[in-house]
Amino acid sequence: MARDNDPIQTIRHRRSVRTYDGKLVAQDLLDKVMSYASGIQSPFGVRVQFKLLDVERDHLSSPVITGARTYLGAKVARQAGAEESFGYAFENVVLFATELGLGTVWLAATIDRKAFEAAMDLAPDEVMPAVSPLGHASDKMSLREKAMRKALKADDRLPFGELFFAGDFTHPLAPEAAGAWRPVLEAVRVAPSATNKQPWRVVVTDGALHLYEQHTKGYAKDATGDIQKVDLGIAACHLERAAAAEGIRGTFTRDANPQVNIPEGCEYLFSFVRE
Ligand SMILES: Cc1cc2nc3c(=O)[nH]c(=O)nc-3n(C[C@H](O)[C@H](O)[C@H](O)COP(=O)(O)O)c2cc1C
Repeated sequence: MARDNDPIQTIRHRRSVRTYDGKLVAQDLLDKVMSYASGIQSPFGVRVQFKLLDVERDHLSSPVITGARTYLGAKVARQAGAEESFGYAFENVVLFATELGLGTVWLAATIDRKAFEAAMDLAPDEVMPAVSPLGHASDKMSLREKAMRKALKADDRLPFGELFFAGDFTHPLAPEAAGAWRPVLEAVRVAPSATNKQPWRVVVTDGALHLYEQHTKGYAKDATGDIQKVDLGIAACHLERAAAAEGIRGTFTRDANPQVNIPEGCEYLFSFVRE
C-alpha cells in the first residue's frame, strides 16, 4: 500500500515538469523548501548553497520551460566530491518539493546559463551544475514537452541487468536475484539523469553496493563540471532514501573498491556498505 510521503512512491512518481501554470508558489511552501535545503549534509563532504531565483527580477529563461515564475539555483565550490554532493543535495530537495506537490526539472544545458550564474553570484572557483523551476505543473504538457519526453525516451530506463551486476561486471543481476536490494536498486534505476543516459552501474557484493560512473564521451564540461558525477550523486540520494525505507542501514565510503575488472569508460566512485 502506498503511504503518504512514502519515499519509494515519491521516487517512482517524480517526473520532469517543463510546463507550469504561470502562478507564483505560496511563500510558505518556498520557505519550507529552503529550510529543508539548508539542513542537507552531503555524505561526499561538500556543502551545496541554495538560492531562490525570480524569473522577472533575475531575467531568467529556458527554451524548454513555460509558465515558471521561480527557480531553485544552487552552487558548490570546485573540489573533489563537488558534483556528487551537488547531485545528492539537489535531488533531495527535488524529492522534498515533489512531496509538497511542486513540479521540478533538472536543467543543466537548456538554460540561459549566463543569466542564472549572474543571479547566483557565481565566483570563479564555484560551479552551478544545474537549476530547476519550482512551480505547479500545468494540467496539460506543452507540445514541446511531449516531443522532448519522446526524444529522450524519458519514460524508459535500461533493463535491470544492464545496470546492476552480481560480484563483478561479467554477471548481470536479475531483479529476482537481488533480494533485499531489489527496491533499492529499482529506486536508483528510475532516477533522472542528464539526457536520460543513466550512467550509474552497480556491482553488488555481500553487504555492499559499489557504484560506478559509465562515462559518455564529451560530457564533462567546465561550466557544469562532470554532469554524470552529478547523476551518481542523484543515484546516491535515491539509494539512501530507499534503503532507509526498507530498514537497511549503511554508510557511503570511497574506501571499499572491490577492485574488479571494469568495462572501458567506467570509473569506480563510491560504495554503500551495510552496517
Ligand atoms: C543532471 C541533469 C541535467 C539535466 N539537464 C536537462 C536540461 O538541460 N534540459 C532538459 O530539458 N532536461 C534536463 N534534464 C532532465 C532529463 O532529461 C530527465 O530527467 C530524463 O529525461 C528522465 O525523465 P524524467 O525526469 O521525467 O524521469 C536533466 C537531468 C539531470 C539529472
